[in-house]
Amino acid sequence: MHEAIVIDTDPGQDDAVALLLAFASRDVLDLKAITTVAGNVPVAQTTANALRIRDLAHADSIPVHRGADAPLVVALETAEFVCGPDGLDGAGLPAPAGEAAPGHAVEAIIAICRAAPDDGITLCPLGPLTNLALAFRLAPDILPKVRRIVVMGGAIGLGNITPAAEFNTYVDPHAAAVVFGCGRPIVMFGLGATLQAIASHAQIARIGALGNVTGKAVHGMLTRPRPGGLGSDGHPMHDPCIIAFLLWPELFEGRDCFVTVETGEGLLRGRTTIDWNGRLKREPNAHVIASVKAPELFERLIERLATLP
Ligand code: RIB
Ligand code: CA
Repeated sequence: MHEAIVIDTDPGQDDAVALLLAFASRDVLDLKAITTVAGNVPVAQTTANALRIRDLAHADSIPVHRGADAPLVVALETAEFVCGPDGLDGAGLPAPAGEAAPGHAVEAIIAICRAAPDDGITLCPLGPLTNLALAFRLAPDILPKVRRIVVMGGAIGLGNITPAAEFNTYVDPHAAAVVFGCGRPIVMFGLGATLQAIASHAQIARIGALGNVTGKAVHGMLTRPRPGGLGSDGHPMHDPCIIAFLLWPELFEGRDCFVTVETGEGLLRGRTTIDWNGRLKREPNAHVIASVKAPELFERLIERLATLP
C-alpha cells in the first residue's frame, strides 16, 4: 500500500535531493503535495525552487503550495551563505515553467489531512516547522489524521547554525515546540543522524556520471563552492534521510525519547533537549534516529536518481 505523504520544504540543495528521491519513488509513496516555507531562502524563492525541481523531474501533476513567509514569533533568518543567493546554487536550472497551486500551504495541509485515507497522512517537514504548527493550531481536528511526522530538525549534540541549535529548529523554535508537543508519532532526524549521511566526493561523481539531466543538476548543486568550515568530506544529505526512512526503514536505528525545544531568545534558542537516557521520566514523544547505514543509503539513492529524466 502506498504511504500518503506531504513534503513541507524550503529548497535548499538537500531539500531538492529529497524531493527528487520522492519523485523517483512514486511506486511506493503517494505524494499528495509539496508545501513550501521560508527557511534557507525566503518563501517566494523556496516556492520557485520547488517548482524548478518539479520541472526537472517532469512531475507537474504534484501540486506545490506556497506557505508561511516568516516564523511564528521571531524574525526570519535565512541561509544564503550556505545555499547561494537563489537557494539552489549550482543546479543550473531555468526559472519554473508553471506556478504554485492556488491555496496557502497551511490550507492545503488541512484539506489533505481531512481527506486522508484510513491510514492517514505522513507529514515530512524538511524546513522550519511554521506551516505544520499553523495547521495544527488552526485545525486541531486534523491531528488524528496525521499518521506520523518524519522530521529533519534538532540535534542531540552540537548545532550547526549556532553552537546549540540546528537550523530548522532555530529558525522557528516556537513552531518546533508546537509540533513536538502535538501528540502524534514523530520520527526525528537531528544532526546526530543526518551528519552520518554525507555524500562522498566519489558518490557525487557517480551521480554526475548517470547521464541524465537530474544527475547533472544534483552534481552541480553538491559540488558548488561552499563556505569554509562546513566539511570537506562531501555534502551532508540531511533532508534526503527523511524520504529514505519512508522507503528503507531498515537502514536506520533509534530510540523513543522525550524531546523539548528551547523557545527562549538566548543562546539556547532552538536547542532540542533529547532525554536519551530517560532521566526526566517523561513519556517519549519522538523516535530519535541515532544511526544511519550511509553506504547502503547512497547506493539506493543513486539507483533511484538514475530513473529520473
Ligand atoms: O540543518 C539542516 C537543515 O537546514 C536542512 O533542512 C537543510 O536544508 C538546512 O538548511
Ligand atoms: Ca531543508
